[in-house]
Amino acid sequence: MQDFAMSNSILVIGRIGQIGFELARGSWPAWATVDFVERDELDLARPDTVGRYVADMRPDFVVNAAAYTAVDQAESEPDMAFAVNRDGPAALADACRDIGAALVHFSTDYVFDGSKPGPYTEDDPINPLSVYGASKAAGDAAIAERLDRHVILRTSWVYSAIGRNFVKTMLRLGAERDKLGIVADQHGCPSAAADNAQAVIDIVAAIGEGRPHEFGTFNCCGTGATTWHGFARAIFDGAALRGLPIPQTVDQIATEAYPTPAARPRNSVLDCGKLARAYGIVAPAWRASLGRCLDELVPQPQPVAD
Ligand SMILES: NC(=O)c1ccc[n+]([C@@H]2O[C@H](COP(=O)([O-])OP(=O)(O)OC[C@H]3O[C@@H](n4cnc5c(N)ncnc54)[C@H](OP(=O)(O)O)[C@@H]3O)[C@@H](O)[C@H]2O)c1
Repeated sequence: MQDFAMSNSILVIGRIGQIGFELARGSWPAWATVDFVERDELDLARPDTVGRYVADMRPDFVVNAAAYTAVDQAESEPDMAFAVNRDGPAALADACRDIGAALVHFSTDYVFDGSKPGPYTEDDPINPLSVYGASKAAGDAAIAERLDRHVILRTSWVYSAIGRNFVKTMLRLGAERDKLGIVADQHGCPSAAADNAQAVIDIVAAIGEGRPHEFGTFNCCGTGATTWHGFARAIFDGAALRGLPIPQTVDQIATEAYPTPAARPRNSVLDCGKLARAYGIVAPAWRASLGRCLDELVPQPQPVAD
């Protein structure tokens, strides 16, 4: 364990993605000096820039909130997906090892094939169905091979008030259409980017302050599970409460009725017990976090004082 006075600088890669944005407005410990870098200065697809940047900055922690996240587009751009999601993280891990830094990195539920009947634990075998899932799995393996002091957080179904995500897509479609069909045979855990960011901050704080901690791979998503249809229903319930237009009917459809270039696992529910045991981190119930995101997206009028 480290003396926290010796480990206070944190370099976060990605500030304008969903999780990066939440890390930028998160409450870090007072001892932490947090710097953010974006693609124009550190391009994960160019490992030479990665090593040089990290070596120059010499942070105590690197948090990688950046990735190639276009799941369907990755099917036709595998080289780019692997460059950003495997080669970039491999270079990050090399650079962290060289300077003695710890690396916190995000992975995905899409490393699994969905054939398990129950929630996935960290030890279950992976078998990605998509280029995106394979590229993320390759990045995880590259980090684990190179660097002991790593924390890989596998998250799922991420949303926030910024960026492109399912919540914002549903609100847009709900305002445009009377009837929607939403996939009801894929099961997963909606995760608020704000909760993911809080988990990162808590992990960095535990390691930096020399409190009990563990390195390795951890599932990290919202508490509770649903289907895309159940998620959509909750979004529309919340939207209606906040006065937004919603569709009259939201039908349950099968995966086959909504074909996409990339295959998705039918079950990607993640068991987050390991993160709770190692760090005491338990994300809020997914519906509660969804409510907070909707509050941010749809600010309610404030009562006018007399
Ligand atoms: N979104 C999900 O549902 C989901 C689910 C499971 C796991 N995850 C994982 O969670 C992490 C964060 O996801 P997110 O949803 O916050 O991502 P996001 O909103 O799509 O943001 C991705 C970020 O990565 C940056 N980026 C892309 N290519 C880059 C490159 N070559 N070099 C440097 N930066 C680059 C983007 O910058 P530009 O704006 O310049 O492109 C953007 O800031 C990722 O590791 C992702 O795989 C996400």
